[in-house]
Amino acid sequence: MLMGNLDPMSNEVRTRREFLEFIGRGTLVVSSLPLLNACETVSKAVTPEPFKALSPTKSDSLSLVNGLKYDIIARWGDPLRADLKFGTNNDYLVFFSANEQGTDGILWVNHEYLAPALVSGRVKGKAPTKAQAIEEMKTVGGSLIRIRKSPEGQWSLVQGDKYNRRLDAFTEIPFAGGVAVEGKTTAMGTMGNCAGGFTPWGTVLTAEENFQLFYGRSVFEDGKKKHIGSQYGWEKHFDNPPEHYGWIVEVDPMTGSAKKHTSIGRYAQECATILPLEDGRVVAYSGDDAENECLYKFIADKPGSLDTGTLYVADIGAGKWISLKYEDQPILQKHFKNQVEVLVRCREAAKLVGGTPLDRPEDIEIDPVTGAVLVTVTNNKPKGNFYGSILKIEEKGGKGDSLEFKASTFISGGPDTGFACPDNMAFDRAGNLWLTCDISEEALGKGPYSSFVSNGLFYIPMSGPHSGKVFQVASGPVDSELSGPFFSPDGETLFLSVQHPGENSKSRNELTSNWPEGNGAIPRSSVVAITGPLLKNLQSGTKVDPIFDVPLLKL
Ligand code: FEO
Ligand code: CA
Ligand code: CA
Ligand code: CA
Repeated sequence: MLMGNLDPMSNEVRTRREFLEFIGRGTLVVSSLPLLNACETVSKAVTPEPFKALSPTKSDSLSLVNGLKYDIIARWGDPLRADLKFGTNNDYLVFFSANEQGTDGILWVNHEYLAPALVSGRVKGKAPTKAQAIEEMKTVGGSLIRIRKSPEGQWSLVQGDKYNRRLDAFTEIPFAGGVAVEGKTTAMGTMGNCAGGFTPWGTVLTAEENFQLFYGRSVFEDGKKKHIGSQYGWEKHFDNPPEHYGWIVEVDPMTGSAKKHTSIGRYAQECATILPLEDGRVVAYSGDDAENECLYKFIADKPGSLDTGTLYVADIGAGKWISLKYEDQPILQKHFKNQVEVLVRCREAAKLVGGTPLDRPEDIEIDPVTGAVLVTVTNNKPKGNFYGSILKIEEKGGKGDSLEFKASTFISGGPDTGFACPDNMAFDRAGNLWLTCDISEEALGKGPYSSFVSNGLFYIPMSGPHSGKVFQVASGPVDSELSGPFFSPDGETLFLSVQHPGENSKSRNELTSNWPEGNGAIPRSSVVAITGPLLKNLQSGTKVDPIFDVPLLKL
């Protein structure tokens, strides 16, 4: 277990046992092990690389390695049904297949935030008119879209389908279990929908991350609550409390009905990754993506539900999950009125009980071979961590409901490994890791990021001679990041979000990107389906079962 700061370069000299563990799937240390480098050199001499990795490009395109192609499934503004339109800044994706072949189904898409200059045309920093706020509020939240693969292998959106739905900043969403937050049992809208998860009972979990953008946030000074205004200024027209956002929201893909879970706490919720327990209950892992914030896990107390259970925060140094249950913690009783207040002010509660501040925990995936919980820790610039890493949590005895774990650095970003600021992950059907990165647009190609000129998608083999090596697969258009990678059941399609191309455009007349249409068009975030022989080849070896399958829908 690592003590204190998770410095990726502070790995001590490994023993032979640990080295052998790496060969199997242990801790990856790419740059500091002569023994490992020697091994890689030998491997390279006898085994050709799986493909020629892409060199990142500044071009205003979605560039892919040879052997892959993409179809655009949906772009911001595309008509879905009646007057519903596909939202902007698409992020997390989960595909619910409606047939065994995986060629027809419903795709859930998060719409995280927006660029007001592109959406409503207002100047940065200027408060919105009510009409502008309404226009913006309709572009966030999430979409449910019916998609199909043609016999020729092309994916497309089924326009007009009755399952096409939108959740946006106007959707009325109740709190699970009738919990009242700020005196209300229902919230208006869901926003900041970043990454997410899905459950064994066939629902989507969408994570409300940067909730402060929309209605601001509350701070406490001398015990008095004070409101800090939002970036978008919607509170000028709609008086919604910030406490109604920052939750995990569960959505039924068949009906679009939703509920907000207070049980998993309120913070910049990045994701909710589910690990089923043997008795039908589940564990949900989630991170608070802000500098020096924490990693959490929730253990449900009933099968098939996230409504009630216990939330824990990680003490990384001690390797312990610490309870945030009001009854268990006198210090919480001293500072808060009740459990609901602990959950609403989760960040403060987590620090009081000894949660470890981390370098922006982002997405979480569970290794389907080892059961290790991988957490991208994207960066912490004020602390000098520019490249981030992937943290590995190994639960004691491999049990999801264990309250003890071992933490280590799985792989570190940087010019040597070829990626920086890891964000979203997905495992393919051969158990290999796919990773997207999120270097902020203004930092790309500059200073510590001089070798990183665009955001990309990466493939990391988890076994074989190239195990642990990072291969770039895709490079995104100008000002974009690639996010939300999600595999179809057969592994032959990788759904991917191309998020916020042209985000730094000053106005609709001064655009930094015209992707995907080109020719001076306004840039539009889009969901693409990546297919091709390379994707098949990379998964042609031993099949690895996922932690659990996405349940089949009956449409
Ligand atoms: Fe929306 Fe933490 O990324
Ligand atoms: Ca993210
Ligand atoms: Ca991010
Ligand atoms: Ca991101």
